[in-house]
Amino acid sequence: MNMDMKVGTTLKIKGKIADCADGFVINLGQGTDKVNLHFNPRFDESTVVCNTWDGSSWGQEQRDSHMCFGPGSEVKLLITFENNEFKVKMPDGHQLTFPNRLGHNHLSYLSVQGGFSISSFKLD
Ligand code: GAL
Repeated sequence: MNMDMKVGTTLKIKGKIADCADGFVINLGQGTDKVNLHFNPRFDESTVVCNTWDGSSWGQEQRDSHMCFGPGSEVKLLITFENNEFKVKMPDGHQLTFPNRLGHNHLSYLSVQGGFSISSFKLD
């Protein structure tokens, strides 16, 4: 909580995916009740699922089958927060975009779940 991520900012996050992980989650939003970006690579489905939690339900999933990392790997992700969308750049340069459906222009909440341990993160 209490993160100060404004429109135009890029979050650079590095970490290690656990050897036994079947996926992980990075959430960015206002709090547990409002998640603008739920970023969820699922290794068992070989898919990156993105979605929004609006306080009561999940929105429509966006699925991307480009998977360039897996259990045991070190990853660096760049997440850029723009007015209308998020841009997520994968370690191999592949980029996905996801709309900022909830429309906030400030993000105060970051959480990481599942088999991902953060080694560094930075807002630029
Ligand atoms: C659900 C899952 C949630 C979240 C959501 C995204 O099936 O239980 O954790 O990933 O999908 O649409």
